[in-house]
Amino acid sequence: MVGYAFMGAAHSQAWRTVNRVFDLPVRARMALICGRDESKVADAAGRLGWEGHTTDWRELIARDDIDIVDVCTPGDSHAEITIAALEAGKHVLCEKPLANTVEEARAMVAAAAKAQTVGVRAMCGFNYRRVPAVSLMRELVASGRLGVIRHVRAVYLQDWITDPQFPLVWRLQKDKAGSGALGDIGAHIIDLTQFVTGQRITGVSAITETFVKERPLPAESSGLAASADGAGAATGQVTVDDAAVFVARLDGGGLATYEATRFATGRRNALRVEINGSLGSVAFDLERLNELEFYDAAEPGVEQGFRRILVTEGDHPYMAAWWPPGHIIGYEHSFTHELRDFLAAVAAGSDPTPSFTDALQVQLVLDAVARSAELGSSWTGVEPVPAPVTA
Ligand SMILES: NC(=O)c1ccc[n+]([C@@H]2O[C@H](COP(=O)([O-])OP(=O)(O)OC[C@H]3O[C@@H](n4cnc5c(N)ncnc54)[C@H](O)[C@@H]3O)[C@@H](O)[C@H]2O)c1
Repeated sequence: MVGYAFMGAAHSQAWRTVNRVFDLPVRARMALICGRDESKVADAAGRLGWEGHTTDWRELIARDDIDIVDVCTPGDSHAEITIAALEAGKHVLCEKPLANTVEEARAMVAAAAKAQTVGVRAMCGFNYRRVPAVSLMRELVASGRLGVIRHVRAVYLQDWITDPQFPLVWRLQKDKAGSGALGDIGAHIIDLTQFVTGQRITGVSAITETFVKERPLPAESSGLAASADGAGAATGQVTVDDAAVFVARLDGGGLATYEATRFATGRRNALRVEINGSLGSVAFDLERLNELEFYDAAEPGVEQGFRRILVTEGDHPYMAAWWPPGHIIGYEHSFTHELRDFLAAVAAGSDPTPSFTDALQVQLVLDAVARSAELGSSWTGVEPVPAPVTA
């Protein structure tokens, strides 16, 4: 694994758990974790359960006893590490968004395609696909229970930088993060809605805003856990969007709206999606992730209404491996499910999803949104990618 902070910890939790919960033909050994600071990565290795640590990711790639590289760093290093790992014959799980630019994402897709010819697999970490209620939404759409999809309404709302004194962490720097709320959390709702509907965004009209344009430089590079207390006296420019709002068309004829912001005061991590079809609707809220709201227009008129499905039954996606019905799961389980699917695909010699091509398609949407916003919200088509969105 490369990176030991937020995603490093979340993925480590999943690596520790996956073989204890799911019956898989391969067993993960947590061999080596990489970070740039020797004492911090040594501490992280002990805390997170890794056998060894290093300050140079090239060591992971050089070692013969390492088969999988899990990339949990900011976007500016995804392409370099991932391409080197694939070329060395390592299976790769890379965090989202796949890259900071379309160009990098294309290079990663090319490396994955070449690696695939010798049985090496690549996957991008859009973990919310693996929330059981989200998988169930997809199954309901795929089985026709919603009919023709007319509307997709998706928001991802956070509020961690509303304080103008919050420091200029890497997520607020374009060279490190690629974009702001758009690529960080907008990417999730783009992937999730396309995954659930099986439809792709064909074009967008967008507005973006950077509400606080200058911020104190952080005392040291820090992630989401930083606070205004960690800020120094010097300031620097915020070079990414604080919020992105866009409308989109789907290739199945539906209309979609998206909002991604870090300025929704009081909303800590509110990912909400509603989908309306000709025969029914579903609504999902990550803050109540064990639940799915379902409206079935085929029910008798007097009984119609949204009902709550508690997605904890043994025949709900992923749930047979966990607890008895009604015993809820949480955020971290989405990563365990992600690794379960990744390891199962690697063991079976099949391609895990979302593929790098799926993630490139998300990158093309992000790019279209950014270009539309720059051009005064002008309608901007999303370049199609050859392969279908994979399940
Ligand atoms: N799937 C999700 O829900 C989710 C949530 C948060 C972040 N992410 C993604 O995960 C990635 C990491 O985000 P994070 O929140 O964990 O960031 P973070 O700041 O918490 O951690 C980044 C880690 O990468 C390390 N790092 C940075 N550059 C490195 C390099 N060149 N070599 C080795 N280590 C390096 C840092 O030391 C740190 O350990 C990003 O791509 C982000 O978009 C995904």
